[in-house]
Parts: sequence; structure tokens; C-alpha cells
Amino acid sequence: MTMISAVSESEPSCLNTLPGGGITPRAFRALAELVYGYCGIVLGPEKHTLMANRLRKRIAALGLGSYDEYAERLGADDDGAELDVFIDLMTTNHTGFFREEEHFRVLGAQVLPELARERLPPGSVLRMWSAACASGEEPYSMAMVAAQAQRRDLIPGWEILGSDISQTMLAVAERGIYARDRLAPVPPELVSSCFLQGVRSQEGFVRLDPDIRRQVRFERINLLDDDYRLGGPQHVIFCRNVMIYFDEATRAGVLWRLREQLHPGGYLFVGVSESLGNLCGGLEPVSHGVYRRI
Ligand SMILES: C[S@@+](CC[C@H](N)C(=O)[O-])C[C@H]1O[C@@H](n2cnc3c(N)ncnc32)[C@H](O)[C@@H]1O
Repeated sequence: MTMISAVSESEPSCLNTLPGGGITPRAFRALAELVYGYCGIVLGPEKHTLMANRLRKRIAALGLGSYDEYAERLGADDDGAELDVFIDLMTTNHTGFFREEEHFRVLGAQVLPELARERLPPGSVLRMWSAACASGEEPYSMAMVAAQAQRRDLIPGWEILGSDISQTMLAVAERGIYARDRLAPVPPELVSSCFLQGVRSQEGFVRLDPDIRRQVRFERINLLDDDYRLGGPQHVIFCRNVMIYFDEATRAGVLWRLREQLHPGGYLFVGVSESLGNLCGGLEPVSHGVYRRI
């Protein structure tokens, strides 16, 4: 399955023969500022080649001759359509089912039963948000854990929102179809209870069980937005492996807004390599990458 639409046109030779992949310091600066201003991702000078490589085919497809022309084109992008393509190309979307698996164990064994017991008024459901969900494996892993806890009568109803800034990733997530070999980290009992196996033309692919798929919705949300418009507080937020791309000021702003979206006693999960340091005001550490709103 192709995750990112690839453009197949041949490249203008001027783009790949110059140092740094042909990107001038001026174009790099303009494009890096655009990325930072739009989604908070910091692209230091060491990212010249990465940027050049990711944009090369797109520039060729547009029939432009240089990165400077592309930067100018983005500057005159009235409807924002090319900006969306550009941001899609500049984000790193690596993810996987049950990535940082310990978090899903904590979610199912501790967090969800505790929230259901102590924080959930009768008749209401647990609300969870995967705040930079890439191609959907993270919210669907949360969903599998929640469905299992519900089958064991540990929690009542639940719902999950998956969001990302990348439209391409959200389209993959919405489909809920994955190559079967991506299921390697999924516990076997969840593979059999949560996925339908593809046959004939779908051989080698799996589809999320429709009952689970229907409880996960997707939306485009930029973590830099002032107002996430979630329609109410969340019991659990996963915001993992995205703040590593932000500087401290951006991280502080995002963390403040995420905390505001949590019920008191609700949980925030960040990537295991993303220590919050002194930015975790109002959140108490629970375990590696897991925080509870005070
Ligand atoms: C490396 S993936 C992490 C996926 C998943 N959370 C995980 O840990 O496996 C980072 C995701 O953050 C998204 N992202 C980057 N900047 C963002 C922003 N300002 N708002 C929302 N999503 C953003 C990217 O599009 C990408 O899909």
C-alpha cells in the first residue's frame, strides 16, 4: 500500500547536481520558515538535503526549475492547496501498531479501568484523542485495547478521535486497511478479534473490524491552533513522537493546550523519548511518558 502519493515525473537535472541537493540558502530559509510558522517543525541547516530530496519530485511535477521558484510559488498560493502538499511532504509520518507497546499495556490494565471506576458519570463514555495519529495505527491500537477492556466489562462505551496535520495520512487512516505484515506487533488475540483478512484481490491486506472502525473518527487538527474544537474534555490524550520536532516554546504552548483538553485525573501519553522536563506544570508523572492531569 502506498502511504504517500509519489510523483513520477523525471527531475530537472539542475535540481540534483548542486550542493545540498540544489537548494539555495535563500530558498531553504524561506521554506523552513514556512514549515515552522505553519506547523512548528524546526528544520535546522542539517536538513538541507532532506528538504531537497522530499521536494524534488514535486517541483518537477509542477514544471518548475528551482527551489527558489517553488518558494515563490508557495508565497503566491492563494487557496493554500500547494501549502497542504508542501506540509504533507515535510512531515515525518513514521508510526506502527502498538508502537512503544508498554503504553498500551498501561492504558488497558490501569488507565481505562481506573477512569471508568473513578471518573465516569453513569451513562457517559470514555473519550480519547490521538493527537498526531499519522496513518492511524496509534488510534486503532488504542481502539483495540478499549474494545478488549469493554468485552471484559472493565469500561463502558468509548470513542476515539484521531487527528493529524497531513491530509494524505488522514486519508490512509480513514480507510483502515493495512498490509498484513504491519500487524506483527499486534497481540494474536487482537488480530483475530479486530481485523478482517483480505481475500482474492485484497490478499495480503487486513481491514479493521467495522464495529471498531466506526468508533474512531478522524479530523485534521493543527497542534499549533489556539482552539482544537474537540467538543468537550478528553479522558486520555496520546500526543507521541511529534513534539520532538518542535522547539521549547512551541512544546510549551502545545502542552498547555493539551492539558486544558484533559479532564482532571485524565492522562497524557507522550513519546518515551520526549521527557517534558520542567514543561509539565499541572501534570504529574505516572510512568515513562505517562502523565496525569492534577
Ligand atoms: C512521527 S509521526 C507520530 C505518529 C504517532 N503519534 C506515533 O507515535 O507513532 C508525527 C506526526 O505528527 C504530525 N504533525 C507534525 N506537525 C503537526 C502539527 N503541527 N499538528 C498536527 N500534527 C502534526 C505529522 O504529520 C506526523 O504524522
